[in-house]
Parts: sequence; C-alpha cells; structure tokens
Amino acid sequence: MYRTHNNGELRIAHLNEKVQLCGWVQRTKEFGGLTFVDLRDRYGITQLSFNKVVNEELCNRANELAREFVITIKGKVVERESKNLNIPTGEIEIEVSELTVLNKSKLPPFTIEDETDGGEELRMQYRYLDLRRNPVKANLELRHRMSLETRKYLDSLKFMEVETPYLIKSTPEGARDFVVPSRINDGQFYALPQSPQTFKQLLMVSGYDRYYQIVKCFRDEDLRADRQPEFTQIDCEMAFVEQEDVLSTFEGLVKHLFQEIKDVSFEKFPRMTYAEAMEKYGSDKPDIRFGMEFVDLTNTTQNKGFKIFDEAEMVVGIVAKGCANYSRKQLDKLTDFVKRPQIGAKGLVYVKCNDDGSYKSSVDKFYDQNALSDWAKIGGAESGDLILVLSGGTETTRKQMNELRLHMGDELGLRDPNVFKPLWITDFPLLEWDDDHERYHAMHHPFTSPKPEDIHLIDAEPGKVRANAYDLAINGVEVGGGSIRIHDRELQARMFELLGFSEEEAKSQFGFLLNAFEYGAPPHGGIAFGFDRLCALFGGSDSIRDFIAFPKNNNGRDVMLDAPANIDEQQLEELSIALRLEVS
Ligand code: AMO
Repeated sequence: MYRTHNNGELRIAHLNEKVQLCGWVQRTKEFGGLTFVDLRDRYGITQLSFNKVVNEELCNRANELAREFVITIKGKVVERESKNLNIPTGEIEIEVSELTVLNKSKLPPFTIEDETDGGEELRMQYRYLDLRRNPVKANLELRHRMSLETRKYLDSLKFMEVETPYLIKSTPEGARDFVVPSRINDGQFYALPQSPQTFKQLLMVSGYDRYYQIVKCFRDEDLRADRQPEFTQIDCEMAFVEQEDVLSTFEGLVKHLFQEIKDVSFEKFPRMTYAEAMEKYGSDKPDIRFGMEFVDLTNTTQNKGFKIFDEAEMVVGIVAKGCANYSRKQLDKLTDFVKRPQIGAKGLVYVKCNDDGSYKSSVDKFYDQNALSDWAKIGGAESGDLILVLSGGTETTRKQMNELRLHMGDELGLRDPNVFKPLWITDFPLLEWDDDHERYHAMHHPFTSPKPEDIHLIDAEPGKVRANAYDLAINGVEVGGGSIRIHDRELQARMFELLGFSEEEAKSQFGFLLNAFEYGAPPHGGIAFGFDRLCALFGGSDSIRDFIAFPKNNNGRDVMLDAPANIDEQQLEELSIALRLEVS
C-alpha cells in the first residue's frame, strides 16, 4: 500500500491519525532544527514536518529531497503551529516517522507552480510537467466535467453514443483531409474524418434516431487560437425532427452545462437570422455582450462631394459611447489598426460629438455641422460619443467594421469573460460563390437541406436560397453548427450537381449515401459543438490549446514528440510511397 489518504484530504478532524501519503516534493524549507516539505499530488498539498531533535537521520534525509522527487511517508496528523488558511489542509501537518524515496527527479526546466517561469514552447516540450501545474490541471478537470455532464444530459434524453470509424475516404468538400496510406491496398489512402457527418446520417437511416459521440475530428487547415488540426466535437443527430426540435434539445444541453458547471441560468436563447447578423454586426457569430450595432450611413453621406463615400457601395458607422475625448494619438492608433493588412481598410473617418453640442470630424471639409448632426441622429450618438466610419464594398466593409467593433469592445472593457451571451444564428445561405473557382460551395456542407420555401429559387437564383442551417455563437465564438439534412435522393443528387459534381463524381464520392437514401431515409437533422471551444469559453480563455492535454503548436507540431517526422525508407517502401528525390 502506498497511501491511506491523498494530499488534499486531511483536516483537523484527522488529528492523531496514523497516515501514509505519497506524491511529489513541491518544495522544502529548513528552519533551524525543523524541516518542512510540501507534498503535492493531483488533489492538493499537505505539509510534512521533520524534527532534528526527534530523529536526526530522518531529518537529514528530508533535507536531501529536491523538487519533484517522488516519495512516500508514514506519520501522524498534528495541528500546525502556524496555520495556512489559504489551503484546505492548512491547519494540519504530518509528523513524519518513515520516509521512502520512490524516485528521484532531475531539476525541472521550469518551476511547477501556478505562476511559472517557463515559456510556452518549453512548457509544450515538457507537457507532462506542465500538466502537474494547478491551472492546467483545473482546465482538464473542467473538460472532464463538461464531457460527463454532456453524457448525462444526452443519455437522459435517450441519445446513444455510437463510435464511427477514423479511417475513411477522402472527400473534396470542406477543409483539406489528413490522409493515411494503406499498406495492404497498394498506393491507396484512407482519410481521417473532418467530422462523422455522413456516418451519423447513415445511423439515422439505420433507425438509431438519437445519436451522439464525443469524437475526434481532423482538419488540415491553418491554425489559430481556436483551431487545432485534431479537435473534439460533441456530434449529434436526430431523426423525425424539424429545426425547432434540434434547437430546443441542444439549447437544453448548453443550458444544462452552464447550470451544472458555472451555476449560470438562462432564459430562452435569442435568435437572429444570418442576414440580420451581417447587417448589424458584419459577422455570422456576433458578440452581443455589447451593443455598438452598425449604422448604415450610405444614403446620408453620399452626394456631398466626398469622393471616397460617393464611390462606396456602403458607408457604415459605429458609435463608441463616451469616446469623444479620444486624442489625436488614440485616433491614429485606431486608423493604423484598420489599415493593418489583416483588416485592409484604406482609412477611418471619425466624428466627435462634443459636449457643447458641436461636432468635429476628419471630413469637416465636406460635411457641415447639420450634416454631422444627421449622422449622429441616425446612429443615436449623444454628446461625448465618437462615431467611427468605414466605407467600400458591402462585404469587405462589414468585415472590417466587425474587427473594429470587436477591437473597441476590448478597448472599452465591454467583453467580460464572466458574462455569457449565447445567440442562435439561423437561415444561413445554402451556397457561397467562390470567385477563384467560379462555382458554388456549400456554405455548411452538401447535405444541408434548403428551406422548403426557397427551393423554387434553386435553378434561377441559387445564391438566394436559404438553408435550414443554424449556428450557436457565444460571446463571438462559433461554438456549434448544424442543419436539417436532405433525406431525398433526388434533391441530394441535384445538390451535388449544383456544387459542380458530375454524376460519376457524385456516385464515386457519395454513392453510399445516395444508395442509403433509397432504403427509407427518415427526415433528420443535427448539430456538432466544438468541445474544445466550449471548454475554453467556460474556462474564460481564448485559446483551446489550454484545454487539450497534449495539443499541437501553431505550426501543427507536437513539440514534445517532435511530430510530424520522417519515416524510414523501409516503411515508405512498404507503403508504396516513392521517396522524394533531391533535385540538385
Ligand atoms: P462544423 O464544421 O461547423 O460542422 O464544425 C462544428 C464545430 O466544430 C468546431 N470546430 C473546430 N474546433 C477546433 N478546431 C477546429 N479546427 C475546428 N473546426 C470546427 C466549431 C464548429 O462550430 N458535421 C458538421 C456538423 C453538423 O452539421 O451537424 C460540422 O462538422 O465550434
């Protein structure tokens, strides 16, 4: 037996008990004839004490312990002389009578404390040490509780967890696939699933009418703080449902998680159409923790001699409350912000609504006080406010204004991570025009059903067809998305055609699904949540990496394993992969 208790367990109620503990040495302190050791495990820290007068040899051995040694001790629970009320075990300590070193440790490359001196790359390299730190451990504990509560909720509604395969077939839609060569099928490749989408639809055809899976997905795409090449979804599907059923079931899941994990309850989640979200926020995942909605100034500002606005498809403003006192320097910084290549605006127009009722703008030459007062009226700006205006093509200007709005939200402290504002976005367009390839893409995926009332537009105006698709955004993060699916073989075939697949291509890529639809496919729909993103949101962080035990860095590398890596020639040969020849 190694232990009778863990290191977070003992209290004053255990006084005089004989106990055995084990764990890692967090630190040792020597005071005259006394030595104190903080012993740590997953559950907490317990102080050990050694007294030179009582047992000199034991005390000397305690003094030789170094950080991260693994030890086990026997001893008696006693009351501490100087109590530490900051930790649950802080009223007691263990008077040690036996000490065994189970394993030594090299000096760790960074301190294993809540505040560490290790940089990100170093901590990723020694992830197993970083995982010993409380903040990282707390994130993984949160993740564990989230998955447990998800399973409890879905199980209570008769959802059944079914595993789907990881070695599947590459498809051209969506992001790039990770592929895996097959040794026994010479020259052929599997692909890792970007999501279990088609499998969950097949399960509906099979009659498993409430499916879920907490499942790994793989996408070879550019990485960001909220994107990893392998990530986890709470993937769900239901048969015999309409959009309303899916939304209410999974609104229930998110509410359950908030209630159980954060003790936060919600009224019904608000909803907004995609069109409205783009108009008001220039984003399909608006952060509605704060207002600052877009103000369309196109009509008011044009034909006054200012060429830039006259030539623009759209002139749009936002009102920053109480910012009329922004200095030249602050305004220049905002201009620099929107001119950054990632945002790409040509410039920024501002109007200060002064306290005395007058206006000062960067375009005073073209707009008199009356004109500026009209802008303020339309935008609901009052004395003391600042109006920021961008112009250009509708889509690009909205995107740029979205960035500026979020930036102002950050700057003005309006994006409190402890406030949660969920929002359903509905009625996404079914298709998205791709200028480069001169063809339509499915905005969600090719299995999403058009809104029945828009089906008549499919031939004449496919770009105007709205989909039975929805996303859930919380605080500006897209945490989930799904749709009602096509379950009619003919409509699915028509959809592939619209997306530029020839009949043969559609058959070879998705024949299995088209065939399945010939054998009694029920109406069905579902959703998938980004589980890492949900965890990060609940944990108050922008980065999903902190909530994944062994994440990749921004170049898609596992720096601890040093993967990806070369494989040896023999392996390549077995897989029938020709070696890339160095051309000198
Ligand atoms: P979608 O592609 O919208 O839908 O993905 C669902 C959710 O997964 C999360 N997500 C990611 N999280 C981390 N890293 C990534 N690289 C990443 N990519 C996506 C997002 C997103 O909302 N099969 C459909 C779902 C359906 O229709 O039911 C799907 O995969 O939070």
